[in-house]
Amino acid sequence: MKKFLIPLLLLSGACHATGLSAADQAAAMAMAKDNGCFSCHAMNEKVVGPSFSAIAERYRGEAGAAASLVQAIQNGSKGKWGRIPMPPHSSIGQADLAKLANWVLSVPKQ
Ligand code: HEC
Repeated sequence: MKKFLIPLLLLSGACHATGLSAADQAAAMAMAKDNGCFSCHAMNEKVVGPSFSAIAERYRGEAGAAASLVQAIQNGSKGKWGRIPMPPHSSIGQADLAKLANWVLSVPKQ
């Protein structure tokens, strides 16, 4: 638990830069925890999947980035970061997928 608190504080400080309110960021992070994202991802280190800060850095500012991450989270992803695929998350609704994708894009650089 402890290791999630620090990025949460950092994130709330970054809300002006990203356009997400601190409340939206906290809600999205809670959703990511509830959906098991942190069993494969961490904020700043590669675990099974790439860190959320690395994903943000790669796609931030790209047109259609959020939509493409929605697709990747929903349908799974492979071959973009390495040889391990991400399984699909087909039970997450569109609105929540969009929140998760925008939140990932808002994670500040390490
Ligand atoms: C079983 C492990 C696992 C879980 C659980 C998981 N991921 Fe992933 N995720 C990965 C791996 C591995 C990749 C890299 C896939 C690739 O190379 O294309 C990835 C890639 C991603 C990407 C980048 C996709 C792209 O287009 O580059 C995003 C965004 C992402 N994950 C978000 C999430 C979110 C949000 C959740 C929770 C709903 C989640 N992941 C749960 C393993 C996981």
